[in-house]
Amino acid sequence: MDQGPKVKSWSPASWRALPIEQVPVYPDRESLAAIEQQLAGFPPLVFAGEARKLKAALAKVASGDAFLLQGGDCAESFAEHSADNIRDFFRVFLQMAVVLTFAGASPVVKVGRIAGQFAKPRSGPTETIGDVELPSYRGDVINGIEFTREARTPDPARQIDAYRQSAATLNLLRAFATGGYASLENVHRWMLGFVKDSPASSRFTELADRISETLDFMRAIGIGADMHQEMRVTDFYTSHEALLLGYEQAFTRIDSTSGDPYATSGHMLWIGDRTRQPDHAHVEFCRGVKNPLGLKCGPSLTPDGLLRLTDILNPANEPGRLTLICRFGAGKVFDHLPKLVRSVKAEGRHVVWSCDPMHGNTVKTGSGFKTRPFDQIASEVRNFFAVHQAEGTHAGGVHLEMTGKNVTECTGGARAVSDAELADRYHTHCDPRLNAEQALELAFLMAELLKKERQARGRPAIEAAE
Ligand code: PEP
Ligand code: CO
Repeated sequence: MDQGPKVKSWSPASWRALPIEQVPVYPDRESLAAIEQQLAGFPPLVFAGEARKLKAALAKVASGDAFLLQGGDCAESFAEHSADNIRDFFRVFLQMAVVLTFAGASPVVKVGRIAGQFAKPRSGPTETIGDVELPSYRGDVINGIEFTREARTPDPARQIDAYRQSAATLNLLRAFATGGYASLENVHRWMLGFVKDSPASSRFTELADRISETLDFMRAIGIGADMHQEMRVTDFYTSHEALLLGYEQAFTRIDSTSGDPYATSGHMLWIGDRTRQPDHAHVEFCRGVKNPLGLKCGPSLTPDGLLRLTDILNPANEPGRLTLICRFGAGKVFDHLPKLVRSVKAEGRHVVWSCDPMHGNTVKTGSGFKTRPFDQIASEVRNFFAVHQAEGTHAGGVHLEMTGKNVTECTGGARAVSDAELADRYHTHCDPRLNAEQALELAFLMAELLKKERQARGRPAIEAAE
């Protein structure tokens, strides 16, 4: 049988022989090697079977029968690690999921940027303030954010702390997801609280009321959380950028069921826009692990470049394996997305199309804050849906930077955060995140788009009457 072009052999360490971008310079190589060895003996954070289950859920997204909601911090930090932060994020995330499930009348696959999202690509290797030049901050798993030589020197011991924080976060998330906290009735009640308090309340009440009526109806006919586990528990998955490859290698384990290598640092890994060179280390590492993968697609990616990466990352054209996370900037979606969608469709590749409306819409204010205007974020999402509608493909998901807290990092939204207010609660360690209200507002906006898509495809609605 024709085996096609010869595939080069892969091992968890084969990336080490290739050129690599965005790599921190550790002054103490010996201690780095010792820590990587220690990590390799630590328990896995996630199991291969869970990653396979996520892949199967994403395969449904690829075929147009589900929607992917992915989101969380740009960078998790050691300083912000608290039960309250995790709980608040999870609550908002689930409310968004309920709104989207109802509007799309199809499952929402829930994937957090959490429990491992610590390493950041940067625009330059150093940062200069005045006449002092120091290594750039690369995320808490690598160095500290304070502008001192001590903090900015990459310290391998931070990888142990990041692992332990990820384990603690994941433990709480698992308890929330399966212990009853995530029950549909709870989530619904939180959502009604949000709608009542929002200055744009009237825009959300119609959908919220329909969800309430549906739940009342289900209760009336005896479908309740006490009898139905689906209403009490939820599947929640974790993801992060596979940037710090020594760490990822240490957590790559052979699954005893399938004999295949899996990254066990998170369920889904993605490749950043700055590290997606097809012949470089990050693509090499990711091609060999069997987890679902994300690939960030920015304006410099050509249709041929994308097909080449698709060949490398998903040679068997397995649905659910590859999610293309598009991040062009609101005004550039129509220049870039249609040609990528057409070539992927023409070649019959099974992918999930997801929209990251954050990374192409970052601007700097006069006072020096990095921010993202809510209107631009919403506009990129709308344009993404418009392209898929025009091309006859499924707008499969979104990828957001968001928090459950009431931060002031992105401008606009129903409460109209202004440039001048950014200083009030600007806490992010990297890029500006949607706050809880902005995130939910965006979910309601996406609900309208999903409903339109569903109606255009002639899928049955679950509403009794429109
Ligand atoms: C990110 O997701 O935080 C990020 C750095 O994105 P990108 O690789 O798309 O720039
Ligand atoms: Co970011």
